[in-house]
Amino acid sequence: MEVALTVNGQARKVVLEPRVTLLDALRERLGLTGTKKGCDRGECGACTVLADGERVKSCLTLAVMRQGAEITTVEGLARGEELHPVQEAFIRHDAFQCGMCTPGQIMSAVACIDEGHTGSEAEIREWMSGNLCRCAAYQNIVAAVADAAKEVRR
Ligand code: FES
Ligand code: FES
Repeated sequence: MEVALTVNGQARKVVLEPRVTLLDALRERLGLTGTKKGCDRGECGACTVLADGERVKSCLTLAVMRQGAEITTVEGLARGEELHPVQEAFIRHDAFQCGMCTPGQIMSAVACIDEGHTGSEAEIREWMSGNLCRCAAYQNIVAAVADAAKEVRR
């Protein structure tokens, strides 16, 4: 069947079987490999993207369930050469090691800030807890989210 999505501001159509996840549709059909496949079963958050502004684990989401949705992946955050404030903060705070979890962390951070869940370090940790980092860069990730929150709010 055909699924129409707006991905990073562009209208895209993909023909796929109903069992295909949004993650596989993005990575394998649309060539957007910035979104990572970690556990493929909803546990790690590496596959987090925004769907109509809300974060979703794209490995647990069938593409057909998001017919007509606006999807934002990590590729859609930068404006040309200019990185998103969250991406800049991750670089500034050295908030990644291997980088596998990073796109998901960044997408989740964008939503976390948008949702207003950045009042304290504990609150950031709680609302980012669906995103695991096997390298344990958590301290730096939390610092980056707190810092970016200040900038985004300005
Ligand atoms: S790949 Fe989706 S949560 Fe791990
Ligand atoms: S930076 Fe390696 S998993 Fe997080």
